[in-house]
Formats: sequence, C-alpha cells, structure tokens
Amino acid sequence: MSEKKKPYLYDLPKVGSDDIGYLSIAEINKNIPFEIKRVYWTYSTPDHISRGAHAHRKLQQVIIAVSGSIEFYLEDNANNNYNFVLNQPDKALFIPPGHWREIKFKDGAVLLCLASAEYDEEDYIRNYDEFLKWQK
Ligand code: TYD
Repeated sequence: MSEKKKPYLYDLPKVGSDDIGYLSIAEINKNIPFEIKRVYWTYSTPDHISRGAHAHRKLQQVIIAVSGSIEFYLEDNANNNYNFVLNQPDKALFIPPGHWREIKFKDGAVLLCLASAEYDEEDYIRNYDEFLKWQK
C-alpha cells in the first residue's frame, strides 16, 4: 500500500510569534495533496458524542482542529487501524478514501475539513458490514 493510501498527520506552516499570535496555511500544490472542492466545519459537539461512523468511497480529506482537541479512530477494511489526536492548529490529518472513522471532540473543538469533492451522499458507506465487504 503506498503512502498516499494511508492516513497521516503532518505539520502546516506556522507564521508569527507569541507576541502577535500565529497564522497557519493550507495551500494547494504546497501542502494539500488534492484540489479543494469543498470546505466544511463541525463544532458544538459535546465530549460524550462520537461522530463519523462512516467511510468514503472516493473522497480525500485534510482535517484541521482549528480549536480544541479531536481524537480520531480510523480503520481500513484490510485490518489496519490508526489513532490520531489533533490538538494544535498547525497540524493536519490526511484521510484517504476507504477509512471508517469515529471522531470525538474535546474542549469545544472546531473541526475544519478540506475536501476533494462536493457533497455526495452516494460517496458515503454508513453501514459497517457493508464497509468491510466493500472492494476498493
Ligand atoms: P456527516 O458527514 O455524516 O457528519 P459526521 O460524520 O460529522 O456526523 O454529515 C452530517 C450531515 O450533514 C448529513 O446529513 C449530511 C450533511 N452534510 C451536508 O449536507 N453537506 C456536507 O458537506 C457534509 C459534510 C454533511
């Protein structure tokens, strides 16, 4: 499996100082590995709620915790699983297609998602058994 097919955490540029604050940048052809077609953000999710519970057939995503802390459990259907924590606004998580996800928000986290395609419910697999049987 090539690197691009696995999820990975990476650093975004961080410009500024403790005195004036910081700015981080997500930019196509520099640190986003696809053309961004959609941006959405998720917020006000209580700590005890688990979101996600789906996989995408084709969608690629880069996710940033612009505030707070977000825990990810990811799984592909070949028995690989991954745990990631996003808790700094200069970190990003790349999620390739074909990964079941469970997501927990802490500290009033705000999740920013940069996505490779427009919203399409047909791209979702929301049934775990169907996900396990799905051939990429
Ligand atoms: P979903 O992706 O299932 O969110 P989560 O995994 O965080 O719970 O989306 C929740 C709802 O929002 C679902 O009914 C679809 C809708 N939605 C859109 O209409 N457009 C979008 O771009 C997204 C991401 C979701």
